[in-house]
This record gives sequence, structure tokens and C-alpha cells, in this order.
Amino acid sequence: MFRTQIRRMATTARQSLKIGLIPADGIGKEVIPAAKRVLEALGSDIPKPEFVSLLAGWEVFTREGYALPDETVEALKECDGALFGAVSSPSRRVTGYSSPIVQLRKELDLYANVRPVTSVAANPGDKPDVDLVVVRENTECLYVKQEQLTLTESGREARATRLITERASRRIGKMAFEIALGRPRQQVTIIHKSNVLSVTDGLFRETIRAVPKLSEVNGKYDSVKVEEQIVDSAVYRLFREPEIYDVLVAPNLYGDILSDAAAALVGSLGLVPSVNAGDNFVMGEPVHGSAPDIEGKGIANPLAAIRSAALMLRFQGYTAGADRIDRAVDQVIREGEVLTPDLGGKSKTQEVLDAVLKKL
Ligand code: NAI
Ligand code: MG
Repeated sequence: MFRTQIRRMATTARQSLKIGLIPADGIGKEVIPAAKRVLEALGSDIPKPEFVSLLAGWEVFTREGYALPDETVEALKECDGALFGAVSSPSRRVTGYSSPIVQLRKELDLYANVRPVTSVAANPGDKPDVDLVVVRENTECLYVKQEQLTLTESGREARATRLITERASRRIGKMAFEIALGRPRQQVTIIHKSNVLSVTDGLFRETIRAVPKLSEVNGKYDSVKVEEQIVDSAVYRLFREPEIYDVLVAPNLYGDILSDAAAALVGSLGLVPSVNAGDNFVMGEPVHGSAPDIEGKGIANPLAAIRSAALMLRFQGYTAGADRIDRAVDQVIREGEVLTPDLGGKSKTQEVLDAVLKKL
């Protein structure tokens, strides 16, 4: 499904695969160990995994006063890839706190958040109803977090800066085309709102439209069909006819919202994986958050985290290992006997993990 993106990986045979594990908060601590177990069970499909446990998140912040220790960033630079759980970011402003995942994406220049959303077909040979990938720009848009509160005569006024650059739009565009090239339908839909935000979204749209014509691309993407859709109608059509979409490329905020919405189409956030990818590093991360409502109950669905591990492997070029994981996960979902409560089942995280390990 995906072509290899990470240039430094998989070109040379390696003895071991060093993976940083950052469970962070809440159910991150329950699902990342499950993904680790699955990687360990792959045997000779991947180089022997070597795990490095690393800290980040709200809990560390409350203890140490920082959410992303320098040691974590430095250690990751020595790793071949990483898995991140979820952080519990407070909705109110807390002095000194900023989300470590947003920071990590910046520090490691993980400019693409790639989120495949796929339904499991009733029979292995059938086409899934939903089979799309949201390619979300990961470094700018409103997430540059330049917010200001001022007091005016008529009350408080809040402003945020939204940054869209040609450089970031071009590289996310290339990523989207590259992914589309590796998929049967070869279609890219640009998501924007340039009817209203003609300057920022206009630049995003125009830059991505121009990607196939870039001289360095050399006609490589000529077979990819390019479409575009205003974000609100994209959400509408996503619910009405999800089968029309293949690869959607979007600025940061739209991409975030669209992929959570798309998760509803396949049953649960607990199923949807992602990777944060740059040119040299890839970090798997389930799309869901830390789920405080079910934390500690042992019922978190580990499949999103497990699929995120598979997606990480795919970007590293270990397709056979990734395929094995995805097949095992699909089988468990299709059989429907061992499922966590978010999917209507009664099983525990551990039981779902055991079922996946058995199918491997
Ligand atoms: P959430 O994704 O944590 O939970 C939404 C709903 O889905 C909850 O009912 C939860 O129980 C359920 N759910 C999510 N993942 C599940 C899984 N694996 N198995 C079973 N059920 C699952 O989003 P919410 O509640 O909006 O946010 C909770 C916290 O997570 C907040 O502090 C938020 O800031 C943080 N968050 C972190 C993200 C990240 O680390 N990338 C992403 C989204 C939210
Ligand atoms: Mg989200």
C-alpha cells in the first residue's frame, strides 16, 4: 500500500532495529506495550528490535516541569524509528506547558502525518468500503501556536496566526503524490477553503496543484489524478460516499479533524493508526488520545497502536513484517470474537493482543 519513504532505512541490511518507545499518558501506557510485543513476535521479518523507553507527556510535566525532556529528543536521534502513545494535554492554558507531540514533530521535522483509514471487508477478497489516507501537514497552519489575547474597549480579543508556506505545502504535496502512486486508484484530493481563505489556503492549493509539474519530479506523478474539495463539503461527502476518496492532502487543522471524522466510518478511533514522517525519521502514533475515561481499566483497544507499528515498518521498508501485522489485525476484526468494548466486544486489551499474536 505504501512505498518506502524513509531514505536512510532498509537500503542496507542491519543487525538490529532501534525503536524509541514513548507511551506518554493514559492509555498510551496500555497500548504501546502491546505494539512492542507484536514487533517482538515478528522474528526474522525485521532486524532484531531493540527498544529504548523514553519519557514525555503531561505526567512528566507535572513531576518535572517540562513535557519533553531533552534526553528524549537526543535519544530519538539515535533511533531508527519510534512509537508514541498519547498525551493528556489540558484544554486550559498552563504556563510552561506545550504539547510534546507537537514539539517532537517540529524537533525531528516530521512534516507529514499519514493516517490511513480502512474498513475491514467481510471477506478477505472484497474491496473495503472505506480505503483512504489522510495526509496531514504537520508543522504549520494554526499549530504554530502564535496566539495573542488583548484587552480592547469592547472586551477581550483573541487572535491566532495561521502559517502556510510554499516549502511545507510542496513537500506535503510530494508525500501525498508518492503515497497515491503506490495505491491502486492513484488519486489525490486537495482539501482547502480557498473560497474564503484565498491567501493561505490559496497558496496551499496552488502549490500542491503544481507538484506534478515540478522539473525535479520529472513527470513521475502524471498518472495520478488530482481533485480538490472545499473542507466542509469534503466532510459531508466523507460521510455520504467515503468510497470516492483515496488520498486526501490537507493543512494541519483540517487534516486533524478530517481524520478523526473518518475514524468514525470504520467503527472506532481505537482502530486508526498514523505515522509522523519526515525524510529521515518515522514515528508511529495511534490517532486517538489518552482516553482518560477508560484509563487503567485494561479495555483500551490496542489495534490502532499495533497498526501504527506496522505503518512505521512500512515507511522503513519492512513490508513483509508490516503485511503480517495488518493481516493478523484484519483477521481478528473480521472474526469479531475478541474485540474491546469500543467495537461492541467484551474483551480486554491483553486478550486482543493475544489474539493478534496468535494470528501472526
Ligand atoms: P480520545 O481520543 O482520548 O478519546 C475519545 C473517545 O474515544 C473516548 O471516549 C475514548 O474512550 C475513546 N477511545 C479513544 N481511543 C480508544 C482506544 N484505543 N480504545 C477504546 N476507546 C478509545 O480524545 P479526547 O477524549 O478528546 O482527549 C483525551 C485527552 O487526549 C486530552 O487530554 C487530549 O488533549 C488528548 N489527545 C491527545 C492526542 C495525542 O496524543 N496525539 C490526540 C487527541 C487527544
Ligand atoms: Mg486529533
